[in-house]
Amino acid sequence: MIILGLNAHHADASASLLINGKLVAAVEEERFTRIKHYTGFPLHAVEFCLQQAGITLNDVDHLVIGRDPNAKFKEKMSFFVKAPSQMLKKYFYDRFINAKDLKTIDKVLMAHFKCPKPNFKIHNIEHHRSHLASAFYPSPYNEASLLSLDGSGDFSTAMSGIGRGNNIEIIDSVNFPNSIGVFYSALTQFLGFMNYGDEYKVMGLAPYGKPVYKDLLSKVLFPTNNGWFKLDTFYLRSPHEGYVTYSDTFQPAIPLLYNKNLIKLLGPNREPSQEVTQFHKDIAASVQAVTESVIFHIITELYHKTKIDILCLAGGVAQNSVANGKILANTPMKHLYIPSAGHDAGISMGAAYYTNHQILRGERQPPIFSAYTGPSFTNDEIEAVLVKNDIKFQKLEDEDIYNLVSDKLIEGGVVGWFTGRAEFGPRALGGRSILMDPRRTDAKEILNNKIKRRESFRPFAPSILTEYVSEYFEITDDVPFMEKVFPIRKEKHVIIPAVTHVDGTGRLQTVDANTSPRYYNLINKFREKTGIPILLNTSFNENEPIVNTPQEALDCYLRTSMDMLVLENCVIQRS
Ligand SMILES: [Fe+2]
Repeated sequence: MIILGLNAHHADASASLLINGKLVAAVEEERFTRIKHYTGFPLHAVEFCLQQAGITLNDVDHLVIGRDPNAKFKEKMSFFVKAPSQMLKKYFYDRFINAKDLKTIDKVLMAHFKCPKPNFKIHNIEHHRSHLASAFYPSPYNEASLLSLDGSGDFSTAMSGIGRGNNIEIIDSVNFPNSIGVFYSALTQFLGFMNYGDEYKVMGLAPYGKPVYKDLLSKVLFPTNNGWFKLDTFYLRSPHEGYVTYSDTFQPAIPLLYNKNLIKLLGPNREPSQEVTQFHKDIAASVQAVTESVIFHIITELYHKTKIDILCLAGGVAQNSVANGKILANTPMKHLYIPSAGHDAGISMGAAYYTNHQILRGERQPPIFSAYTGPSFTNDEIEAVLVKNDIKFQKLEDEDIYNLVSDKLIEGGVVGWFTGRAEFGPRALGGRSILMDPRRTDAKEILNNKIKRRESFRPFAPSILTEYVSEYFEITDDVPFMEKVFPIRKEKHVIIPAVTHVDGTGRLQTVDANTSPRYYNLINKFREKTGIPILLNTSFNENEPIVNTPQEALDCYLRTSMDMLVLENCVIQRS
């Protein structure tokens, strides 16, 4: 049984392939097009999935699109008939184009892959059902409370459910424009961060401030008695004008979401060129505090409905790793699973899983703790790239590489680390990473000068060998996808300053020997030499999607002042 899942004509377009219930490939289209959060058709991603499995489009039994234009049709209509007439016209035009794009997906595939009579059956799975499925079916749990928290998708902004075996039963959902994601995005813009996906900057800035505006911001977003929340659109642009725009360049953009009422409430907004002041830091802290309160309220109420203390969580808001790290301490939940692609790229995987398990009753498979489902390259392919580029390199055995790289890190070097299959999801997890020694107090300056040039308040993350988590963190849990932030033990702050944020926390990745053997061995070699089972890990990119090919990794190395590049067993060094 072969199922191809797609997130298409939506931000973070992606494709995923299930064969007999097993995820054999999943990748974001942005990795190929090199356009961040690509919103078009994931043609390259489909090509990769088929190639990885050694199959053709003809072999696909089910084509699943993680969108359902018929979902909440009545609610959509009753919302839009209230819109001013000039907006209605634009709305129906946009809907028409989008519906046409969705309806022609099979035709585009058939033409591209020269497959005029495919065997697949087509399914449309609602956006939030797909999010729930992406969190539940790959989890280790047979029974769980399910929650999707998001900006919006298929006219919902949140959805709750119960997962039992093969079944997902929906409990409730929230309609657009009542959205936590919209709240967070609007305040992200208020703070002068204007790009789609900039919300993590607010999360990084928050620990520098105090939540002194929490009460004021609780007028904009607040918990409600029905177990959900209310976003007061008095402070926002008219929801009828839409909250995300798509362009011919396939880059999503957000129009200005807040209005003058928010400025009256909080004070002046920050222009992107303006300095970040204590006021902005306090606003960021307050945004994060309000968001966390609402999330904990929803999850607590969900528990009271389900009486199941295991939570599977997905959606754009589930990318808030700071909130995620506090869920178990602030709600009755005892266990939490969040997939590597909890954001919209995970829709392709969730839609495919939903079809396999819920519709076709396919057997559930072992849980997924690995995000390595993207492209990989052999040493021969890498050598060919290096020869073509006339680059001098050494080819070394694994053990020699661990030795050489750990020495380079200890002497303060910045190392590009490219190995195995690329990660599915926004985090580099030791497949496409840039590494440094976490003990250095100057690591942030070095990285920002040599490569990243990003805002100085943003933290860098630690990858830690699973066995040592309790020694360094106040909470012991598996965090395979860097999806949670935990407090670092106080006495360790001075030992690993490069990965300790200003509030003493770290967005950790726990590295398991079976899931990431090469990365594990490298960190372990570093531990043998320094006593520290941790490396600083940041994504292998420079203001672009994470590198996907050896050529892109090499280009990034040559463009920046990285000291060493490891491409599988090939090592390049600056002399
Ligand atoms: Fe979503």
